Amino acid sequence: MHTFQALRLLPGETEPLRQIATLTLDDLSPGNVVIQVAYSSINYKDALASKGLNAIIRSWPRIGGIDLTGTVLESADARFAPGDEVVVHGFGIGVDHDGGHAQLARVPADWVLPLPKGLSLFEAAVIGVAGYTAAYALHLMELNGLAPDQGPVLVSGATGGVASLAIDMLAQRGYQVTAMSGKADATPYLLGLGASAVTGRIAPQDQPKPLEKSQWAGAMDSVGGATLAWLTRTMQPGGVIAAFGNAGGAELATTVLPFILRGIRLLGINANSPMPLREIVWNKIAGEYRPAHLAQIAHVIDMQELPTYLDRTLAGQVRGRTVIDMGGSVQ
Ligand SMILES: NC(=O)c1ccc[n+]([C@@H]2O[C@H](COP(=O)([O-])OP(=O)(O)OC[C@H]3O[C@@H](n4cnc5c(N)ncnc54)[C@H](OP(=O)(O)O)[C@@H]3O)[C@@H](O)[C@H]2O)c1
Repeated sequence: MHTFQALRLLPGETEPLRQIATLTLDDLSPGNVVIQVAYSSINYKDALASKGLNAIIRSWPRIGGIDLTGTVLESADARFAPGDEVVVHGFGIGVDHDGGHAQLARVPADWVLPLPKGLSLFEAAVIGVAGYTAAYALHLMELNGLAPDQGPVLVSGATGGVASLAIDMLAQRGYQVTAMSGKADATPYLLGLGASAVTGRIAPQDQPKPLEKSQWAGAMDSVGGATLAWLTRTMQPGGVIAAFGNAGGAELATTVLPFILRGIRLLGINANSPMPLREIVWNKIAGEYRPAHLAQIAHVIDMQELPTYLDRTLAGQVRGRTVIDMGGSVQ
């Protein structure tokens, strides 16, 4: 029987307890594919879940981590064999099924995606749920008419994981990108990813006009709240917004005027896509959307550092993507 290390979340009085534990396969949620995890990452949802916020985790104990990359160790499904390199994200891993913050994971074969050709396990982990979200947003925006010659694209929460990868992918594809960030020292990083301009965050206004100067052909929004409302007021006619985040608030106070006078489009993004869509989007990530700055975006840690970095993510103190190197020593 294999033994391995995991960061396990246990119920606590005020918030979950975090325990780096030695476990066996019997401790994991059921599944017919066992994966030796090479890398996982920290997404904002992992940080919320590890503090017991938003009732993300409802059954305990639980191993967090909503994405992972690794190598198949055992498979009872004919589609996978030992040695296959794979990616798993969403479908409830790290939430109601044990996730990637462990050296071994066990999941149903239907959730397992072969590693797309042209990406390494490390590169796919830097991309993770965050990069998938950015790429899916871009895919939907382009299906809705966005193209590089139509004008600038604003990306909010710019130093975040989704936004950093979005800036990189957009710039590689020829878009002119304006990065919106609350971090005063982030400009060199954001210009280095390919942004052509950097702007500060939007403050809520008491009584905003329903329409303001039209500026953006597209927008990818990590923030929600006042930022998303402002975007609806400042899009160009026919402009396309992809809304995927609520890092700054869940409310949306706007009017129908940008929709009926400028014809703007507001696209909702839920990255927990069905498998056929994942295949399309991951092939684009490995191909025409391929980011060029993964090394600058990634910060690599080990499992011992994971609790500290979960807290830093929640406090907005990290930049880009935090990737966990699982170390590979399963007994
Ligand atoms: N819909 C989906 O399927 C899906 C998938 C992935 C992520 N998400 C959501 O998308 C958002 C971004 O995720 P992520 O993993 O990129 O998170 P992240 O790495 O923590 O980045 C979030 C960024 O938002 C900005 N921010 C944080 N607090 C803010 C505030 N109070 N007001 C304004 N801006 C603030 C910060 O950027 P600056 O300091 O640069 O401004 C921060 O770096 C989160 O809300 C996450 O839950 C949704």
